[in-house]
Amino acid sequence: MSKIIWKPGTFIYPLPVIMVSCGTFEKSNIITVAWTGIINSEKPMCYISVRKERYSHDVIKQTKEFVINLTNETLAYATDWCGVKTGAKVDKFKEMNLSKEKAKFLKCPLIKESPVSIECKVKEIKSLGSHDMFIAEIVSIDAEEEYIDENGAFDITKCNLITYANGKYFTLGKQIGKFGYSVQKKKNSAIRKKIDVKKDYKEKREQKNSNMTNNKAKREKSKQKNIKMTNKNKSNKKKILRKKDNV
Ligand SMILES: Cc1cc2nc3c(=O)[nH]c(=O)nc-3n(C[C@H](O)[C@H](O)[C@H](O)COP(=O)(O)O)c2cc1C
Repeated sequence: MSKIIWKPGTFIYPLPVIMVSCGTFEKSNIITVAWTGIINSEKPMCYISVRKERYSHDVIKQTKEFVINLTNETLAYATDWCGVKTGAKVDKFKEMNLSKEKAKFLKCPLIKESPVSIECKVKEIKSLGSHDMFIAEIVSIDAEEEYIDENGAFDITKCNLITYANGKYFTLGKQIGKFGYSVQKKKNSAIRKKIDVKKDYKEKREQKNSNMTNNKAKREKSKQKNIKMTNKNKSNKKKILRKKDNV
């Protein structure tokens, strides 16, 4: 295992993949966005980066508001579709059979089928080159009741959120820790496990090297077998030819 060098690119994964609803309740649109994230805690602020040529770009620039709708496995198809079709030509809510729900503080609708919708008001637009970064304040979070447990906490494991990595969509894997678990005093946590990173890396590398050597040996063996088979076939053919000649 050794690193190869690539030219600079956009390789930070996994990322959320969200459906951004924008426009007015009557004339609304959805754009799929992966260039998004939280940028401040108090006040809670986030961003979406949108290419200037997108239909939604001008809509958001004009209205100065949008809703981030988190996506789950059920919404994966619609998420992709809204990311390849333009609102200039199609009504994405209608085509994907999605329902509009009134926002608390904005004119644009939430996507009812999304487990969590985040209402955002644009504070600043930063031109970066290919994309404009819409920096926004989060003014409300609308969470689906179904995923809230008896203690009033949102159970993130229940809503089956999806993520985007290197051009592909994934569901989330199993939970392997929680915030601060590495320094927790309690010993009996089932998910608490300290990993010796250097040892783990070395073991994995040794395993990989050994696999590579085994594979190489297998390939070599199979090559030799093929050569033998070819030679045998050739000699059989010759025998047959000789027999024919004999007739
Ligand atoms: C997985 C995925 C992620 C995307 N992320 C972004 C993004 O971060 N910014 C962007 O401008 N376009 C992004 N797009 C492309 C837009 O969603 C796409 O061009 C869409 O058709 C624009 O819709 P509109 O013309 O209705 O605005 C993404 C598309 C997909 C499928």
